[in-house]
This record gives sequence, C-alpha cells and structure tokens, in this order.
Amino acid sequence: MPLLLNAVDASAVKQAAQRLAAGSLVGMPTETVYGLAADADNATAVHRIFEAKGRPADHPLIVHLAPGTGAQGWRGGVDHYARDVPAFATELMNAFWPGPLTLILPRREGVAAVAAGGQDSVGLRCPAHPVAQALLTAAAAHGVSGVAAPSANRFGRVSPTTAAHVADEFAALSDADLLILDGGACPVGIESTIVDATRAWPVLLRPGMVTSAQIEAVCQQPLRERDDTAPRASGTLESHYAPRAKVRLMDAQPLQTALDLLGPDARHIAVYARTPIKAARGVSVRRMPLDAARSAQELFAVLRELDATGVRLIWVETPPIDAAWDGVRDRLVRAAA
Ligand code: TXA
Ligand code: MG
Repeated sequence: MPLLLNAVDASAVKQAAQRLAAGSLVGMPTETVYGLAADADNATAVHRIFEAKGRPADHPLIVHLAPGTGAQGWRGGVDHYARDVPAFATELMNAFWPGPLTLILPRREGVAAVAAGGQDSVGLRCPAHPVAQALLTAAAAHGVSGVAAPSANRFGRVSPTTAAHVADEFAALSDADLLILDGGACPVGIESTIVDATRAWPVLLRPGMVTSAQIEAVCQQPLRERDDTAPRASGTLESHYAPRAKVRLMDAQPLQTALDLLGPDARHIAVYARTPIKAARGVSVRRMPLDAARSAQELFAVLRELDATGVRLIWVETPPIDAAWDGVRDRLVRAAA
C-alpha cells in the first residue's frame, strides 16, 4: 500500500519534497484534482509516472511551478521551461496564477523532454492549493525546478479528488514507491482549463472552471476553438474520465419517462440529476447541485461513489448549455463516450 500522510503535519511535506528530489513519486493535492508528481527534470522519475498510470509515453504532462517569492514569483520557473512566451500568455498568468489554468508554451530545448512527451511545447501551471505550494517550494529548495503531475488516476479513468481515491488507484504500489499527501478534498474538483499559447493566438484545449469569457476578457482577443493544427491533449480524447458503469446523458423529461417505464427493474441504474426525479425503491438517485462550481467540486467523487454501488448504468441529467457549465459538461460527455 502507498504511504498516506496528513499534509497538516509539516514533516510530511518535508518528507514528500525529499522524495521528489530523490526521484520518487508523490500524490500531491491541488485545487483541481490530485496529481501524481515527480521531478520534471528527472527522466527516470517521469518514466515512473507513465508506468504507474499505464499512460502512453507520448502523452505530455503538466509541469507545476512553485509560486516563488516577491516580484519574481513563478517567472523563474516559466523561464526555465519555456521560451518565446506570447504577451497574452503572460497576461493570463498574471490574471489566473496561482490557479486552475494551464498554458501550453514553446519548450526551451533540452529541458523536461520526457515530461513533455517529446513535443516541442510544455504545459505549465502554478497551483493555488496551499499544500501543493508548500511542497513545490520545499522541493525547489532541493533544486527541483518544477514537478510533472498528471491527474493521479490510472489512464482513462476518473480523476481523484481525495487522497483515498489516489490510494485506491495505486493500491498496487508500495509505501516506498508512493507517498500520498492528504490535503483533503480538492475545492475545484475538475482539472485545469488548458490554453494553447504556442502561437500568437489563444486556443482552448480543455474547458475548466476558468471560463472562456474570463480568458477572452484578459487576452482582449477571441479564444479559438481547437483545430487539427493545435497540440494534442489526452484530456481531449473522446473517451476519458470513464467509470466502470456506462454513463448516459439525458434531459430530465426523457430520463423520468425511462425510469417510469422500468419501475422496479431500474435497480441496476443510478441517477444523478438537478431536477427532482421520482424512482422506484432501491434505485439510487443523487441530486446534482444547481450551481456549476459546486457541481464540479463533487462530480468525480459522485461518479466514483455511484460506480462503487455496482450499478451497470449511471443516468445523468445533461448540464445546462451555459458557459459556467462548460467544464462539467465536457467531463460528462467524455465519461459517456
Ligand atoms: O488540473 C490539472 O491540470 C491536473 C492537476 C494535477 O494539475 N493535471 C492534469 O493532468 O489534469 P493530466 O495529465 O491528467 O492532463 C494534462 C493535459 C493532457 O490532456 C495533456 O495532453 C495536456 O494536458 N498537455 C500537457 N502538456 C501538453 C503539451 N505540451 N501539449 C499539449 N497538451 C499538453
Ligand atoms: Mg488526467
């Protein structure tokens, strides 16, 4: 079993930083989801991430930067990994870092090549979570410039938002192979918004809780949709974030009608809906919050819980077509693919 330590204990963070510096893996809480972290400049350590996740080695990882101190902030980290940073990207960093926004930038040659999955770009993010910041800062004191961390789940599965989820995903790893810092439940709950900044214009690669409107307001230019010339992003694979049960998105009315038709035969189905739904006894029905931020916060934990009940189907009420819901809708559409 992995070693699980409460991050409230300062010695736990210290121990985790030493492990990062020594090339081993740490389960790191961030404001979005938990990450499976390793020193981004240590190719052997980064290989351990790909191996543990069962993720193809050409899928690039996000490199997390310490918030830094004073006016310099995270800029030292950006300069270490990236070159030719467009002005709009700097403005986005100033507006949303530390926070749930990742920028894909041209990569400085010779750094973090393995973490970048061999691409000539690199994904950077400065997380807002106090435990992530403490860990990154302590690791920096050991000479770690940045920490590569994909979501701490096995490839293609639901992202973890608690330390217990991470322990479940990597139960096969030993306490020597993985230390998980328990920083509580992640407050944002879905992964960062990703913006490609390798060209002169911003492209949205993955929606998240930093919305398109917020990004456009800062960039003073329209955010373009992904096209074939934009970098690939594995979070943009059609089927992703998938629980074992089959997820199906439906509007409230057809969902209710289908349940009515099935009656007590619906016991292999779990329901997650904003609209009050009537179901036969024994059918698990969860209410989805009416607020997008609260819905994002609990989404992955609810999918895991419903999955754990052993149901074969999870019927989810389609989220509103509204910018605030873009991130949640995106994850559900992929979970249903
Ligand atoms: O909120 C998050 O972003 C979380 C926490 C741990 O920070 N991390 C996360 O990592 O979601 P991951 O590996 O599950 O998703 C990272 C996404 C992938 O879709 C990957 O393809 C994309 O970022 N990405 C990373 N570097 C890239 C690059 N150089 N070019 C294109 N896409 C990149
Ligand atoms: Mg992921």
